[in-house]
Amino acid sequence: MSLRRFGRITAALAATTLTVGALGACSAERAGGDTQDDGDDSTMVGIAMPTRSLERWNNDGAHLEELLQDAGYETSLQYADNKTEQQITQLQNMINEGADILVVASIDGTTLGPVLQTAAENDVTVIAYDRLINETENVDYYATFDNELVGTLQGEFIVEELGLDEGEEGPFTLEPFAGSPDDNNARFFFKGAWDVLSPYVESGVLEVPSGKAPASVDEWTSIGIQGWESADAQSEMENRLNSFYEGDEKVDVVLSPNDSLALGIEQALEGAGYEPGEDWPIITGQDADEANTKNILADKQSMTVWKDTRTLGDQVATMIDQIVAGEEVEVNDTETYDNGVKVVPSFLLEPQVVTKDDVEEVLVGSGFYEASDLGL
Ligand code: GAL
Repeated sequence: MSLRRFGRITAALAATTLTVGALGACSAERAGGDTQDDGDDSTMVGIAMPTRSLERWNNDGAHLEELLQDAGYETSLQYADNKTEQQITQLQNMINEGADILVVASIDGTTLGPVLQTAAENDVTVIAYDRLINETENVDYYATFDNELVGTLQGEFIVEELGLDEGEEGPFTLEPFAGSPDDNNARFFFKGAWDVLSPYVESGVLEVPSGKAPASVDEWTSIGIQGWESADAQSEMENRLNSFYEGDEKVDVVLSPNDSLALGIEQALEGAGYEPGEDWPIITGQDADEANTKNILADKQSMTVWKDTRTLGDQVATMIDQIVAGEEVEVNDTETYDNGVKVVPSFLLEPQVVTKDDVEEVLVGSGFYEASDLGL
């Protein structure tokens, strides 16, 4: 009996816990045991990551691979250099190699329908990792952080730093950026931030000299940076500074959705002669990348929204154990993530703001970094 069909029967029979319990138990004895009648006893998990060029995915892949191997699973970890065709080929190979479960951090969640149809035909269970997979029914679970909250935290940080919630009237100059147009998360990040900031843009307290203020959240891709590329964010920021900031006009705030973009923006500001502690703007970020954490310590970035990728890996490993044991898979959100075909049962984790004052306690204290990594 295939894992997917076993899963559906389990879901259908949820009422008779005892029965399921017994079944679950027998599968549990075969922890790491196979779920397919293919004569091969181990469970093989394919792990598809988008790229090695964005720091966090290296951590995500390595941590999950280690967890699963320690638990006795066979794994195949692949990186796709941010190329969708390469990711599709890698997923096809994993299916051909007998994967029972696929964990997919998609590059473009709208491109995987056909290969996941093949996965379904081979009874492979699919977990979307960090980024939702769209427009297919063949995704079973989603594990991520609360993506809209990431943006909300960035927006609220800016409001507090400028004192806008205490009646500060500005005007302040803001330059907003958004993430990769093919990344489903990027819309949530932008919506969270823009829902907080746009009232101040409308009231004129926040001005956007470049004019690059989307009229609504739906137009977020107009300021999106493809592939989350630092270099493209740098040249975009250089263009804005050269074209819209004359004389001693300065940018006060930059909404950067993540650290790789923030790094490029910071290099553009440095090149334009901005000085940390003098006229350096408030800059947001996400991911607590090493270079950006050092920039936070050097007053070149104001905050980052940290997502402890270890906890995401832990949650996905738990999901896999539950799937293999035939148990109900733990989720905590069955409403938010509609992928255009169905609402995908999801587990959302909490992101948190990290500023200069928190780096040692939170990032070093939790073991995410060694003090020496950060020059502390
Ligand atoms: C997003 C992810 C962020 C950031 C970005 C670029 O999907 O949630 O943490 O890393 O991709 O990789």
